[in-house]
Amino acid sequence: METAEIARRFLSFFEKNGHTVVPSASLIAEDPTLLLVPAGMVPFKPYFLGQRTPQYSTATSVQKCIRTKDIEEVGKTSRHATFFQMLGNFSFGDYFKERAIPLAWELVTTPVEDGGFGIDPEKLWVTVYLDDDEAAEIWRDKVGVRPERIQRLGMEENYWSMGVPGPCGPCSEIFYDRGPEYGAEGGPAVDDNRYIEIWNLVFMQYERGEGGDKGDFPILGELPKKNIDTGLGLERLAAVLQGVDNIYETDIIGRVLHHAAELTGTRYGDDHDNDVMLRVVADHVRSAVMLVGDGVKPGNEKAGYVLRRILRRSVRNLRLLSGESDTLFLHELTDVSIDAMKDIYPDLLDKAEVIHGVIDAEERNFADTLRAGTALFGRAAERTRAAGGTVFSGADAFQLHDTYGFPIDLTLEMAAEQGLSVDENQFRELMQRQRDTAKADARAKKLGNADISLYARLHEKAGDTDFLGYTDSESESFVRGIVVDGEGVPVARAGQKVEIVLDRTPFYAESGGQLADTGTLTVDGRGVVDVEDVQKPLPGLFVHRGTVRSGEVVLDDSVHAAIDTGRRHAIERSHSATHLIHSALRNALGPSAGQAGSENRPGHL
Ligand code: SER
Repeated sequence: METAEIARRFLSFFEKNGHTVVPSASLIAEDPTLLLVPAGMVPFKPYFLGQRTPQYSTATSVQKCIRTKDIEEVGKTSRHATFFQMLGNFSFGDYFKERAIPLAWELVTTPVEDGGFGIDPEKLWVTVYLDDDEAAEIWRDKVGVRPERIQRLGMEENYWSMGVPGPCGPCSEIFYDRGPEYGAEGGPAVDDNRYIEIWNLVFMQYERGEGGDKGDFPILGELPKKNIDTGLGLERLAAVLQGVDNIYETDIIGRVLHHAAELTGTRYGDDHDNDVMLRVVADHVRSAVMLVGDGVKPGNEKAGYVLRRILRRSVRNLRLLSGESDTLFLHELTDVSIDAMKDIYPDLLDKAEVIHGVIDAEERNFADTLRAGTALFGRAAERTRAAGGTVFSGADAFQLHDTYGFPIDLTLEMAAEQGLSVDENQFRELMQRQRDTAKADARAKKLGNADISLYARLHEKAGDTDFLGYTDSESESFVRGIVVDGEGVPVARAGQKVEIVLDRTPFYAESGGQLADTGTLTVDGRGVVDVEDVQKPLPGLFVHRGTVRSGEVVLDDSVHAAIDTGRRHAIERSHSATHLIHSALRNALGPSAGQAGSENRPGHL
């Protein structure tokens, strides 16, 4: 069964069962705790937490996902990918285990001619969380799975969270037995290569706190409702239903893989090391296409770095496979990838020119990098030998990595060619130091997340702010929230820095590179707040940041809100000019001239 058909069947099965089909969200996560979307449930997280109310109580989706935690495993195992698609069905306080379990089983085991996936129940095993008797009973009594096929596993396997504070719960997984040639008898508790997980049903019921992602976190309490979040790996199921050994050999990824073999003059299946490299290329090119399609540009941090890294790994593997260092391979592979994915994502065809522009440019850049890094490498190697040494310093290896994006395996190989070893310990120490810094940054970012929950509560209470700024520069408004030092308070007094939520506002909040309005909030006869900035920490919620100039402001006060109109007009002029310049650049350079990170303020753009 083709991958696209699997996706269609999944959605139509759940649609028939009353679920609303929701299109995939962008790979770029709106969630401040994430760079990229790693699971199907991400767009629905605010519904699980009760921060927002969905328009539907059950939903189904095919969500684009990126995970790079196990990037080194790609190509080596049968199932690791940086880009994959997660099929899911979701219940927001509607049904729970009693319906989620039988639905999943029905779809997986219903014969192909009747619309299901037609998997022989004899090939299936399930797991439940240690003390989840309820799930075990449903599998046994309602679905009819033999008791010896139901295994109980601990937190690490059968308890799901996003790895950060948020929704979580025990889960139950469905495994497919690939047969004795893949490993020992005994079910998923014994061998996760022979028995591969295809579907994870999460009983999203609790909220977790800070900690790791392997069960070492506190449970803070129950979510407002009992929810369902399931995730079925589309590529994994395609491998099972297409009877191939691994996800890289399925219809879609396989096309890229075979084309890469052709381009590099190799044959898939002839040599283990080459096979691994071909799989890496096939996976990575596809990820790059999808990331660029969603607007990511290569860079040195965040999502841009993820993209840069996978593109560079592709180029490196293609060079090793072909033994060539001057050929550019990615254009053709990008074409094949787009063609293979266009049935599921027709928008890729419109974006093809932009995708090619970005990927081609990065491949050329990396070729330059390799040339520049090769010169630095040569000088460092020369120095080492001149000093009578045989060890290339870890600091040089780190500099090559950090400045030129030189992978360590490339440095190791080039050093070996010159009879040198590399001080890998020093290299790893320096890398570790860099990682520690990155971790500290990530911790700092989480504090931002704590703020979000405060804003979410304010938003729930006050609702969306009514924005009047397209027509009005002044309004009579009510104070619906006051925040001082990160806490909701009933009153703020002269001299205090304050954040204020109003029911309606003429103030434009910073967005699209246009700075926020400034102005004043005046409480009749009692106080004045100078508004210095306006932000939208959550869609629909305007937060006015400033200082109480005199008097005080109290919750539910009626205020006169007025923006500085001269300044607003100056900013608008800058914003319009930015669009004109962008349009001129696109005319001159083509559609890949994207606009990012602009700042429009009075007199500047
Ligand atoms: N959120 C779960 C997962 O990612 C199930 O969808 O596995």
